[in-house]
Amino acid sequence: MTVNTLVLSFAAVVASFAFAPSKAEEVAPWWAFPMNPPDFKPVSDDGSVRSVPGSTAGYTLTQTRDRFAATDWHPEDHPPMPGVVANGRKPDVFACAWCHRADGPGGPENASLMGLPYGYIVQQMKDYRSGDRKTSVAKRTPTALMIAGSKGISGVAPIGWTG
Ligand code: HEC
Repeated sequence: MTVNTLVLSFAAVVASFAFAPSKAEEVAPWWAFPMNPPDFKPVSDDGSVRSVPGSTAGYTLTQTRDRFAATDWHPEDHPPMPGVVANGRKPDVFACAWCHRADGPGGPENASLMGLPYGYIVQQMKDYRSGDRKTSVAKRTPTALMIAGSKGISGVAPIGWTG
């Protein structure tokens, strides 16, 4: 295979992604998003309290899975979380820190909020809520929950608000 053929083959592969039918677009690309294997089953909770190095906090698996009570392994490392960040707002808004972590770095399954300007965060929430910000992987659970949760956000808090 010549270099030119190789380049053309590569271009064809790229083109086939770019113009893939809508069914293929609904599947999150495995190389871009962490995904559970098809036969994934969450570990059941044996009731033991889990900990991490350098933290005095402890949580059972059930507690770490509570969408309305974010784990906070190092509370001394950040200012107190506003109520909605720590506990969400039942029934629709899950605790922001449950996904984005108590100090905001997020994880590979979502997004880091660390260091983002206040105005940018507010605008993203407005755009998710209005539908101006969408996703090409709407069926991916973390993204779907983020967008669904934004619909339950009632307003924009001023800086320093802790409600
Ligand atoms: C269920 C998990 C989950 C929860 C709960 C959650 N988020 Fe997210 N968040 C995500 C995911 C996943 C993304 C990336 C979505 C995308 O691709 O647009 C995201 C993206 C964002 C972004 C955009 C970041 C960027 O770089 O543009 C902001 C801002 C944000 N979230 C704020 C919040 C706030 C505020 C809350 C609480 C009211 C919250 N999130 C709750 C999962 C979550």
